[in-house]
Amino acid sequence: MKRICVLTSGGDAPGMNAAIRSIVKYGIYKNLEIYGAIGGFNGLVKNKLIKLDVHDTVRIINGGGTILETLRCNEFRQKKGRKIAFETLKSHKIDGLIVIGGDGSFRGIKDLKKEWKFPCVGIPATIDNDIAGTDMSIGTDTAINTALCAIDKIRDTSLSMTRVFVVEVMGRRSGYLASQVALASAAEEMIIPEIKYDPHKLCAHIKEGRIRGKTSWIIIVAEGAASANSIAKQISKQMSMEVRVAVLGHIQRGGSPTAFDRVLATKMGIVAVKALLKSDYGVAVGIKQRKLVTYDISKAVFESKKDTIKDSYKLLKTLL
Ligand code: F6P
Repeated sequence: MKRICVLTSGGDAPGMNAAIRSIVKYGIYKNLEIYGAIGGFNGLVKNKLIKLDVHDTVRIINGGGTILETLRCNEFRQKKGRKIAFETLKSHKIDGLIVIGGDGSFRGIKDLKKEWKFPCVGIPATIDNDIAGTDMSIGTDTAINTALCAIDKIRDTSLSMTRVFVVEVMGRRSGYLASQVALASAAEEMIIPEIKYDPHKLCAHIKEGRIRGKTSWIIIVAEGAASANSIAKQISKQMSMEVRVAVLGHIQRGGSPTAFDRVLATKMGIVAVKALLKSDYGVAVGIKQRKLVTYDISKAVFESKKDTIKDSYKLLKTLL
């Protein structure tokens, strides 16, 4: 193992840059040459590789997004595209590949491993925290805090004007992000894909709160469960009241990573390089009960973290 390549793939996540920094710096410390593919797997298909040096890592640990850019690459989904990618890696004498991304990006690693036996390691980075085998993915903690910051502000206006707000957060098919945001913002309700939602119960709850003199409601909706607009319409129809909607959208994907994400990304980057050096190929890096681990990448599939989500739901209801 003399030369390795790193790429970021799928939706960007805060902390990807911290992982790149750690891979470049630790790799160079271990006498490796480090290359970066620009625009995810597309960089391999289109032969867009750059050599990375220590100076490329200056002041990137605190930056959101990814300095290597990321794309969803259709060509790489085809066998023909993967063959071109493999040839690019070979032509640059690359011995190992580190992919920072979500479960979709890990499918690329599995294919490269199966078809070309190319040494690859995956680092989980997604704000959705929906990858099996790791308790946390890079970027999730920052996204929770970013959403929280916005919701705290919404709470101010909700309290002042006695209003119901429905706030939609990201998370794709998983309610993880929504559940943590709801708990941390002391929301009155969370609507998530993992738990069946009853609009009548929600309206009865708002009605009962109004009688008690409650002046503010924040309802967090995971995008995978429903749209905030549809929930708001249901409530205003049943309760004959005005409801306001906030869709946080891509704001949750940007911004400077939290200390947690920077540290996680830094540690995962080092573990990924170590895995390649130890010939521990075809693995993903994870964190399990605060310990860094590597595990078979074929196990790194979609997982919504149902148990944690259900616990958070119960807690929210207990503290209402
Ligand atoms: O997977 C990360 C994520 O931000 C999801 O939460 C969201 O559903 C999706 O990506 C949005 O994708 P795009 O940036 O392509 O609109």
